[in-house]
Amino acid sequence: MKKYVIVGAGSRALYMFAKPMSTTWKHVVDFRGVFDTNQTRARLLSEECGNVPVYADFTTMLSEVKPDVVIVASTDNSHHTYIIEALRAGCDVISEKPMTIDEEKCQAILQAERETGKKVIVTFNLRFAPYFSTVKEMLQNGVIGDVYHVHFEWFLDRDHGADYFRRWHSEMKNSGGLLVHKSTHHFDIINWWVDSAPVELQAFGARRVYGDHGQPKGERCLTCSLASSCEFYKDITADPFMSKYYVGGEHEDGYWRDRCLFDERIDIYDTMTVNLRYASGALLNYSLVAYAPYEGWKATINGSNGRLEVGNIYRSADMSEVEKSIIKLYKLDGSSENIEVSAQIGGHGGGDAKLLKALFEGGVADPLGQQADSFAGAQSLLIGATANRSIAEGKVLPVPDVTSLCSS
Ligand SMILES: NC(=O)c1ccc[n+]([C@@H]2O[C@H](COP(=O)([O-])OP(=O)(O)OC[C@H]3O[C@@H](n4cnc5c(N)ncnc54)[C@H](O)[C@@H]3O)[C@@H](O)[C@H]2O)c1
Repeated sequence: MKKYVIVGAGSRALYMFAKPMSTTWKHVVDFRGVFDTNQTRARLLSEECGNVPVYADFTTMLSEVKPDVVIVASTDNSHHTYIIEALRAGCDVISEKPMTIDEEKCQAILQAERETGKKVIVTFNLRFAPYFSTVKEMLQNGVIGDVYHVHFEWFLDRDHGADYFRRWHSEMKNSGGLLVHKSTHHFDIINWWVDSAPVELQAFGARRVYGDHGQPKGERCLTCSLASSCEFYKDITADPFMSKYYVGGEHEDGYWRDRCLFDERIDIYDTMTVNLRYASGALLNYSLVAYAPYEGWKATINGSNGRLEVGNIYRSADMSEVEKSIIKLYKLDGSSENIEVSAQIGGHGGGDAKLLKALFEGGVADPLGQQADSFAGAQSLLIGATANRSIAEGKVLPVPDVTSLCSS
């Protein structure tokens, strides 16, 4: 059995990895340790997951456990440090998305991977959700011919979208903004569908709803005098998990999960557009907003032989409850077909559970290329990082070529 450790003990680490590793997958996973800069959270995770040893620092965990695999589920800006240290200690790495937040850190990861011969897997769970994989299968089978154009729109609602502005994600230096943190999922799916390398882009971004616009504000919901009149008021103590893991851990690091949405430190965008050209000639126009009345995505894919109209509306932030699951295929002869995708149960449209099977069991056939590596991780995050630069500089910019980054 392979030995695993986890860095990061927040909600993703607990629900996606630690709990399944200590229950469903314990016959193939030897879960040996957890490290988080917040030891309260690490201890709580350990108590819920078979009292796995808690470490006070990462290097000690590596040297004592000598794990085969390190799972990185800490904040985005810290991924690169742990990935590189783990690779250099002879471990393979499973990294949460985004692999990292900028080009420099990305290059350092690719270099460490090349020098050590160890591997980084990036957990792009959406590739495993049946809806997204059915679209991939149709495109791979040439159902609409060559892909010429993708229009892709993602909208987060005023609960899920707002959540990114309450905590560490709300500052560029921590998350790379939503174009990296969130859109890395979407750019990965589009890259995978189009099956080509991104070449150049231009992006725009704005803050229209969240952030400091001179409106009345507080420090955090828990103590806010405007709570009764604020549309976005959230009582995190009403959720036992939030209360225990986050309010209960605040004394260590001051990490508030309910910081004011109008805080002046917020420097990420809530409204974003990206126009991009692929090496194949395919063109993408992409948008993301974080304050929509409802949650979901819509896309159209135009090819040489037809058009797909796709999308889902979600009733929950983890995409486990789906409104409709139809793919519409329009052919050039004027006919059309509705393709129904079977029920999607579980986190990220059932993608989380399928991803874990591929990660822990191994040997799973992969005809669609669902198991993403560092190349895919780099390719999608570099679109977001380049889009951030394009917004700041007001320019069309080349997207760094991952093949040359891998060899430089
Ligand atoms: N694939 C998905 O669908 C998905 C969904 C949610 C989150 N994520 C990713 O999972 C990761 C964790 O997200 P989360 O929602 O659990 O966030 P979180 O804030 O709940 O947890 C992050 C944890 O990292 C710890 N931490 C902060 N700085 C650290 C450092 N320098 N070293 C070690 N630990 C540190 C914090 O104390 C916290 O416990 C992020 O990279 C996020 O992008 C992925």
